[in-house]
Amino acid sequence: MDKEILVSLDVNIPNLKIDILLDYKTHPYLSGNKWRKLKYALKYLEEKRIYKIQSMSGNNSNYLMALAKLVSNTNFEAEVFTASYTQDTYTLNYAKKAGVKIRHIDRTDYRLLRENPLESKLIDENAYWIGEGGSSSFAIKGCEEILKFVDLKNYNEIHTCAGTGTTAIGIGNSLTANQHLFVHHSFQETHYSDKFNQLCQKKPSEITFIKNIGKFGKVNDELVVFINRFWQNHKIPLEPIYSAKMMRTILSRNYATPTSILMVHNGGLQGIAAYNYSTQKEKIDIITN
Ligand SMILES: Cc1ncc(COP(=O)(O)O)c(C=O)c1O
Repeated sequence: MDKEILVSLDVNIPNLKIDILLDYKTHPYLSGNKWRKLKYALKYLEEKRIYKIQSMSGNNSNYLMALAKLVSNTNFEAEVFTASYTQDTYTLNYAKKAGVKIRHIDRTDYRLLRENPLESKLIDENAYWIGEGGSSSFAIKGCEEILKFVDLKNYNEIHTCAGTGTTAIGIGNSLTANQHLFVHHSFQETHYSDKFNQLCQKKPSEITFIKNIGKFGKVNDELVVFINRFWQNHKIPLEPIYSAKMMRTILSRNYATPTSILMVHNGGLQGIAAYNYSTQKEKIDIITN
C-alpha cells in the first residue's frame, strides 16, 4: 500500500504500535469516507443519466462540503435541506457559492426526511435522494473497500469514527476474524449497536463502542491544543469533530499488552476551517500550518 496513505506514528507509548490510514488522500476532492459513500451511488446515477441529487445535512457537515466539491467538479447538481439555526457557517457559505441549492426547513420536516423521506412532500421524484451524511443503499458497499489494500493481519485493533455509523458498518463487514473494531461516536451507543445488528452482515469478532468526550460538534480549548500539538509533532492534520477526539482517546489509554492499532482517518479536514470560522478568530486557530 502507498506509504503516503498508510503512515506509522511515532508515539513512544509502551506496548503501542499505531498506523494511520489517511483515506482522505485517495480522491482528489471527495474526502475519505465521503468518496467511499458516494462512489457507487454516483456510478449508478451516471449510468442512469440522473444528474440531480437531493439530500440533507447539518450546517458544517463534511458531507455537505463533499457535495459542494462534487457540484463544482462535475455535471451533478444538488439541493440540500438544512434545519440549523445558524446559517452563516463556513461550509454553508462555501456550498452556496459552489452552486448547491440550500433550502432551510423546520425541524419537523427535517425529522421526517431523516426517518421517512418517501413520505416527505419535499422529495423531487426526478432527483436521487441521499440521506444524511451520504447514507444510501450504496454507501456501505463503498465503505467495505476502505481497508481493501491494508494487510489486516498486522493489526489487532481497528479504530474508526461514527456519525451515521455507515462507515463503521462497511469497515465491520470487511474485517476478518481476530480483529477488534472500535467505533468512536458522539451519540447513544444503542443507536449504533442496533444499526450494527441490522446492517452488518459479517460482524467482526469483537466491537467496542467508545463515546467521545463532549457532545457532537462541541470543541473545547484542550482539544484545540491537542490538535495543534499533534500537527507540530507528526505533521498529520486532525479535524475537531471526529479524528481528533478519536486520536486523543487512543493516546490516553494504557496498553498492558502489545497492541497494534490501525486508525482510519476519514478526512473531513474542512472541519478545521469551519471551526476557525465559527470562532471568528477570537480563539486560537486550530492548525497553524
Ligand atoms: C471525518 C469524518 N469521520 C467520520 C464520519 C462519520 O461517518 P458515518 O456517518 O459514516 O458514521 C464523517 C462523516 O461522514 C466524517 O466526515
